[in-house]
Amino acid sequence: MSKDLSLTTKDKTTKGKGCSNENHQRLSAGVEDKEMDNLRKWFSDKLALGLGNKDLMEKPKVLHTLDLDGIVDYIKSGNVRNIITMAGAGISTSAGIPDFRSPSSGLYSKLCGFDLPYPEAIFEIEYFRKHPEPFFAMAKELYPKTFEPTPCHYFLRLLNKKGLLLRHYTQNVDALERVAGIPAEKLVEAHGTLHTSRCINPECREEYDRKWMTEKVLADVVPRCEQCKAVVKPDAVFFGEPLPERFRLVEEDFPNCDLLIILGTSLVVQPFSSLVDRVPPRCPRLLINHEEAGNEDPVMVVLGFSCGLQFHGADNFRDVAWLGDCDEGCYLFAEKLGWKEDLKSLIENGCQSEAISTVETGAAGST
Ligand code: OAD
Repeated sequence: MSKDLSLTTKDKTTKGKGCSNENHQRLSAGVEDKEMDNLRKWFSDKLALGLGNKDLMEKPKVLHTLDLDGIVDYIKSGNVRNIITMAGAGISTSAGIPDFRSPSSGLYSKLCGFDLPYPEAIFEIEYFRKHPEPFFAMAKELYPKTFEPTPCHYFLRLLNKKGLLLRHYTQNVDALERVAGIPAEKLVEAHGTLHTSRCINPECREEYDRKWMTEKVLADVVPRCEQCKAVVKPDAVFFGEPLPERFRLVEEDFPNCDLLIILGTSLVVQPFSSLVDRVPPRCPRLLINHEEAGNEDPVMVVLGFSCGLQFHGADNFRDVAWLGDCDEGCYLFAEKLGWKEDLKSLIENGCQSEAISTVETGAAGST
């Protein structure tokens, strides 16, 4: 992957002082599907993009229906071998960890008292170097008292147990995927982890574990390195920092994906959000989330380019949105797949997950 791997956000609405959280606007809002279709055809004819060509306009038949049942049939057909899952904070809210952008309950809505130039500054590395206090004052929210994965986490593990999970890409730093027993080689923690921490002094880089950091956070002190007294920062990736090397697995994984499942994310942070465009052009994409996310950019659609998810256009043949609670969606998904009892038993035996994961996957591979 030649592209820059540093973290950015395309979400401009949280910028600006205060606690604005109006970033859930659909990018295609206000434009009727039919109108969009006509415009698209007109532009493609005018620009000679060839997209009016009947062959190219014909919808491939990969899903019987554009809903959860269509996805279930597709999996049951036996042609699905490599599922990639992509997740965000919404899969952990039922574990008591707030997400970022939900109005009133999201972390960014609770930062009014911190005198930040804009909410996301709290996760910007340059800001953190000068002002680490706001991050640590807020960090209590990120270190939950109980550390239990959700049914959704166990559903992801079930996909792996069924031999269908190619890789799970997560933006979450809570490590609940690990706790749920998804093996390390199946995980890409794209935004790092709170599991470990490190001294920010480049000459030192002393490492500390979660227990050490949790104690400091709960004691309301800015954690200082025991060797050099510089600030110690959790290994979560901050805006302006590079993503982990492991994120480069995108290059080999996404071309082989035959079903993409996206759960609990607003899909506004780059480069994670653009991963939805990296699967093959006919690969079905399912979003399980409270609301639609990652919609296509209408300008690009008019120009005949596809980027983002397209739930409503007349040309849609592969994108499905199941709107609701992640846990509920996963229960329903498992039931429709005939896996209800499997999921139930994984959840009930959750605490034995570490031991079981070794049995499920054998020795850990290099990736
Ligand atoms: P967001 O808070 O932006 O989005 C969470 C999404 O999950 C929203 O669409 C919610 O409506 C939805 N949601 C919340 N709880 C849910 C539930 N129980 N069931 C279904 N949907 C639910 O969080 P992320 O997309 O993860 O990065 O944010 C991406 C990145 O932005 C984070 O990794 C973080 C943040 O800035 C850094 O801080 C570096």
